Amino acid sequence: MNLTVIGTGYVGLVSGTCFAEMGNTVTCIDVDKNKIENLKKGIIPIYEPGLEPMVKRNIENKTLLFSDVLKDNLENCDVAFIAVGTPMGEDGSADLKYVLQVAKEIGENMTTPLIVVDKSTVPVGTADKVKETIASELEKRGLEIEYHVVSNPEFLKEGDAINDFMKPDRVVVGADDDSAADTMRRLYSPFFRSSMDRLITMDVKSAEMTKYVANAMLATKISFMNEIANICELVGADVNKVRIGIGSDSRIGYSFIYPGSGYGGSCFPKDVKALKKTAEQNGYTPKLITAVEDVNDIQKLVIAKKVISKYGEDLSNHTFAIWGLSFKPGTDDMREAPAIYIIKELVKRGAKINAYDPKAMDEAKHFYLKDVDGITYFNSKYETLAKSNAMILLTEWKEFRAPDFHEIKKQLKEPTIFDGRNQYNETLLNELGIEYHQIGKKR
Ligand code: UGA
Repeated sequence: MNLTVIGTGYVGLVSGTCFAEMGNTVTCIDVDKNKIENLKKGIIPIYEPGLEPMVKRNIENKTLLFSDVLKDNLENCDVAFIAVGTPMGEDGSADLKYVLQVAKEIGENMTTPLIVVDKSTVPVGTADKVKETIASELEKRGLEIEYHVVSNPEFLKEGDAINDFMKPDRVVVGADDDSAADTMRRLYSPFFRSSMDRLITMDVKSAEMTKYVANAMLATKISFMNEIANICELVGADVNKVRIGIGSDSRIGYSFIYPGSGYGGSCFPKDVKALKKTAEQNGYTPKLITAVEDVNDIQKLVIAKKVISKYGEDLSNHTFAIWGLSFKPGTDDMREAPAIYIIKELVKRGAKINAYDPKAMDEAKHFYLKDVDGITYFNSKYETLAKSNAMILLTEWKEFRAPDFHEIKKQLKEPTIFDGRNQYNETLLNELGIEYHQIGKKR
């Protein structure tokens, strides 16, 4: 098929590239000319494992094209994906200005029948708005061209997006027209070699809702577990054991019940907020979803509180080695990362920070921690330790999993680890004489 993907952010670029990999001809569009020029050369703006070689391969095969002009790329296009950003508006709702701008441009320029797909995470009712916007532009032009608007939310995890796209757990398609649903089924059939059962079709509004509910449910599991961790600590239980105890019940499962420093990233915080807003706009006060958010805000600072309770409110004359800045491993993304909040909390009290992250240090230096004084960045984890009082682990990158604890002990002023991701073996650290603080366990 001939596909156009509008928006070369994370979702658009991964989706476009994976569709090209499956033999479609895909043109990715973005208003950012500089980005498009770079993409044409195979230079990609994000870090995502496996993406760059796939982009380069499909550029060479001429199955992946880039352009900054949408209007030239709608003729003979079978499916146009809207994958532009939906930033959080000031009131917490998703801002649809880019999505509707693209819909307008499609209506102004389309010449042949088209399926328009909402790929961006958009609130319930957006497909209707996209449909109306296109209809009104076609009416202005005095044209009647057949088109359908489909909701096809993405379920990609940063750091594992290629796998998620190429081998999906499920693909959700919301379509109010059978022929549009059939086209989507044909487009996705190469991704399901054994059975198409995991392509789930439904009405448009239910598909739009599914995306938010999936993320809100996962965020709920995390906040629930973080709250349980805090209670475990108070009563003297070990949340790591409790996690294994409950996860073994297949109805509960092991995934997304790891306590930590709270969920971050561009999806959970934004989508939980937007779902709450949707509920409120419809006259419902969502108690549980609000609590999920509140628990997460508190959780982000649990590690900072532990540091303060050991060293006191005044942290001047203290230096902390921070291992990990990104909101999770496998990405350079620092949006809503607990590290931002924890570092600011410590620096506010006079602490100096020695930071290292395998991928996110540029993001930290140039954006998220740009205005924060007192941070020195190092090129390796061990270099952060010299003259530091303690090491604080905030992202569970693989290279932090089994470090040389003798080296850590030797270098730190006082051998102490604060673990915001419960990665280490307490018994081992106790034997080595390293003071170990973790989430959800009293020392
Ligand atoms: C999430 C969803 O997992 C994807 O399915 C979805 O498509 C995506 O949002 C999106 O809406 O685009 P992502 O934000 O990339 O993906 O990251 P996750 O791997 O889900 O992690 C989210 C956060 O939860 C991280 O901060 C992670 O540290 C935290 N987390 C995860 C925990 O604290 N505990 C856990 O047990 C699991």
